[in-house]
Amino acid sequence: MNAISLKINNEGYDVPVKPHWSLAYVIREKIGLTGTKAGCEMGTCGSCTLLLDGKPIFSCLRMAIDAQGSDIRTIEGLEEENDGELHPLQEAFIQDHGMQCGFCTPGMILAAKHLLDHNPDPTEQQVREAIGGHLCRCGTYVRIVKAIMNAAETMRNAQATQ
Ligand code: FES
Ligand code: FES
Repeated sequence: MNAISLKINNEGYDVPVKPHWSLAYVIREKIGLTGTKAGCEMGTCGSCTLLLDGKPIFSCLRMAIDAQGSDIRTIEGLEEENDGELHPLQEAFIQDHGMQCGFCTPGMILAAKHLLDHNPDPTEQQVREAIGGHLCRCGTYVRIVKAIMNAAETMRNAQATQ
């Protein structure tokens, strides 16, 4: 095993890993940040999505050793970015019931965050495309899209009053 250093949500983690361990596995099972979900573990469901250097990736397909030196953001880091409060996307998912079991939710929210960071006023079609690679086994898609649209509006309004 080799020890690697990972930067996750602005914290440093030194963790021994085997070369074939995925980033999703290391983050969940070795570091204990279980907000990142492992569903298919073969790149087809999106539940393991996190932000690597600002871009959403499927962490089940990324080797942990290849993530050294990158800025990794998981769902646990969103509050820190929002002064310790729930992020507007998290609030909107609660308000709009954008989840049932919640398994797909962290990946959906991080994909949506990437969209809104780059496009604060997306169309519904653009929201659908942003979460296109994400499966919700509970079929909550309509409410998820609504939550993301409402979060976008909340964030635009907050920006306008600053
Ligand atoms: Fe990674 Fe499904 S667990 S895409
Ligand atoms: Fe259950 Fe999406 S809320 S998988």
